[in-house]
Amino acid sequence: MSARGADDNITVLTAMEFNVSQPSIDVINALKSVLSENQVSTEASILESYGQDWTRFTQPAPLAVVFPRTTDEVADVVKFARAQDVALVPSGGRTGLSGGAVAANGEIVVSLDKLNTIHPVNNIDRTIRVGAGAITQTIQEAADEAGLFYPVDFASSGSSQIGGNIATNAGGINVIRYGMTREWVAGLTVVTGTGEVLELNRGLMKNNTGLDFRHLFIGSEGVLGFITEATLKLCSPPKDPTVLVLGLADMDAIMQVLQRIQATTPLLAYEFFSELAVSKVVEHAGVARPFETQTPFYALIEFERDGEETETVVFEAVEACMEEGWVLDAVMSQSVAQAKALWRLREDISETITRWTPYKNDISSTVSKVPQLLSAVDEVVHDHYPDWEVCWYGHIGDGNLHLNILKPDDLDISDFKARCGEVSIDIFKAIQALGGSVSAEHGVGTLKAPYLEYTRTESEIASMRAIKAIFDPDGIMNPGKIFTAD
Ligand code: MLT
Ligand code: ZN
Repeated sequence: MSARGADDNITVLTAMEFNVSQPSIDVINALKSVLSENQVSTEASILESYGQDWTRFTQPAPLAVVFPRTTDEVADVVKFARAQDVALVPSGGRTGLSGGAVAANGEIVVSLDKLNTIHPVNNIDRTIRVGAGAITQTIQEAADEAGLFYPVDFASSGSSQIGGNIATNAGGINVIRYGMTREWVAGLTVVTGTGEVLELNRGLMKNNTGLDFRHLFIGSEGVLGFITEATLKLCSPPKDPTVLVLGLADMDAIMQVLQRIQATTPLLAYEFFSELAVSKVVEHAGVARPFETQTPFYALIEFERDGEETETVVFEAVEACMEEGWVLDAVMSQSVAQAKALWRLREDISETITRWTPYKNDISSTVSKVPQLLSAVDEVVHDHYPDWEVCWYGHIGDGNLHLNILKPDDLDISDFKARCGEVSIDIFKAIQALGGSVSAEHGVGTLKAPYLEYTRTESEIASMRAIKAIFDPDGIMNPGKIFTAD
């Protein structure tokens, strides 16, 4: 029996149809002696869901999925895989958007679901120790109960796991103020591709003792080993976060407004999205329009309302932007509920457009070069897809744009992916010319691996491969991710 993929585009084979060979069956049986029997699954539905992430471009085909409960069990699985010469794929909340957690070639998927302990907050160190499988939002809630704040946040925080956030150095909506995940990791426990367990930085604030391997594992997308536990830094929560949504006249206005408002008010977020994105969330997610005026682009700004004075300063800045003709309409939240409702305009976009199997480009430049990046990429996209729907949004205050090309109904997935891939080269050339990045925050995974050279030099890539060979001499850790196969 074939099971259909979540979006009905992917057919997943059962173990029988997958034609599991005798050596593979022997591997599965041997695996059951390393972990207990109920920690190893070959069920078709489990292989399907644990063998893919949110990209939906790959047909999942792992050999088995395992569920270790401790760091030592992860180490046992790695040693077993080395001996059997089987590849391993780490699996967190599977919310990735670059194919970093897909298993399409008979790998063993190692789920971190069971390593989800959240220890009590240490209020003196202002840290929290968590298992890699802990859900991001649950960690945020634990910090909140202790009067502290874990600031890395994004729409998928309710299902993403912290291990995956660290492995991809996740960004999100508050980077303009708090930086990326990297800034918030005080310590890591990892299992390398040799099965060795390393304690990296042990939660220390100060530790100048040579190379900091913690930072090698952050953003390494599982190619060096597994992150099994982390100590995270916490901070004080922001005061009365307030949201402002502005209707913008054109793309140029986006940066003018950022500059004008940031000149007087420190921002927690500066996000942008297009009218197409708004129309999709209004129609398909039941989100209310911010105001009646429809404008080509919108900015969502969050700031701390620290008394009436801040509000007056922000009002004056918005008025000045209206006089310039950059802002055509505006609304400001007056309560936490209103702020949340306005955030849905931005946060619901990604999930809403999954029904069009979007081809995602997650690109960046320095903030000052964003107008050039926007117009160069927009021109390429318009030239190639005059009739296709192209949905723009992103963390513009960080120089990060999300360009989503929506699949026309009459095109099948592989043709669509191939055509988008061709055009991506022109987009990547434009990014390269501006010194930008082909992956701002989603990671390289399998989708961007062929294009790494547009952001990193040949010698940098060779050095990265050499570092991988130190931690993963047998090349069993998440093959095909970041680097294309040799
Ligand atoms: C976002 O900013 O919404 C996320 O990075 C997800 C996406 O780009 O779709
Ligand atoms: Zn994003």
